[in-house]
Amino acid sequence: MEDLTKFTSEFAESVTVVTVEKDGRPNAMTAAWAVPVSHRPPLVVVHIAPQRHTHDIIMETKEFGLCILADDQMDISQHAGTISGKKVDKFSGEAMKPRPSRVIGAPVLDGCVVTMECKLEKAISMGDHTIFVGRVVAIERDPGKKPLILHRGAYYKLGEAVGKYY
Ligand SMILES: Cc1cc2nc3c(=O)[nH]c(=O)nc-3n(C[C@H](O)[C@H](O)[C@H](O)COP(=O)(O)O)c2cc1C
Repeated sequence: MEDLTKFTSEFAESVTVVTVEKDGRPNAMTAAWAVPVSHRPPLVVVHIAPQRHTHDIIMETKEFGLCILADDQMDISQHAGTISGKKVDKFSGEAMKPRPSRVIGAPVLDGCVVTMECKLEKAISMGDHTIFVGRVVAIERDPGKKPLILHRGAYYKLGEAVGKYY
């Protein structure tokens, strides 16, 4: 069996940023492995490797923000996804524009397609990631924005629609 690492990049994924806050210090990390799992109750999952700083903070605070990046936010993806909050304060510069959440302690990001505020429902250790199941307790959408897409390690804007599902 070949190494799965070579094949996972064939999934075309939305790019999200997970936000957390502990002791008044916010942190954020990029996650492409995030999807919805249930409408009622409203549940989403994000898969986070245990070595991430964000992982430990979710384990402690039991809540997180999940922001679907817009196609003009690639720089945020790179900023939040290539360095650890263990080493730097990712919110110290101009790169990310946080705004206070309505329910959770962590801020969410401005300018995204969707921002969700989640309370941790379950953490399931699975292989080399932890599956964090979050119950969405607040949500906001900007219908004027389109999502940033990741495929084979490159970022894309959505192309033209080729058909309709509904
Ligand atoms: C486009 C992109 C997608 C990523 N997706 C994930 C992911 O789904 N799960 C994960 O654990 N790390 C993912 N990462 C890596 C983390 O974002 C990265 O290790 C980050 O620096 C962790 O930050 P932290 O230590 O402050 O939590 C991704 C990075 C990028 C750039």
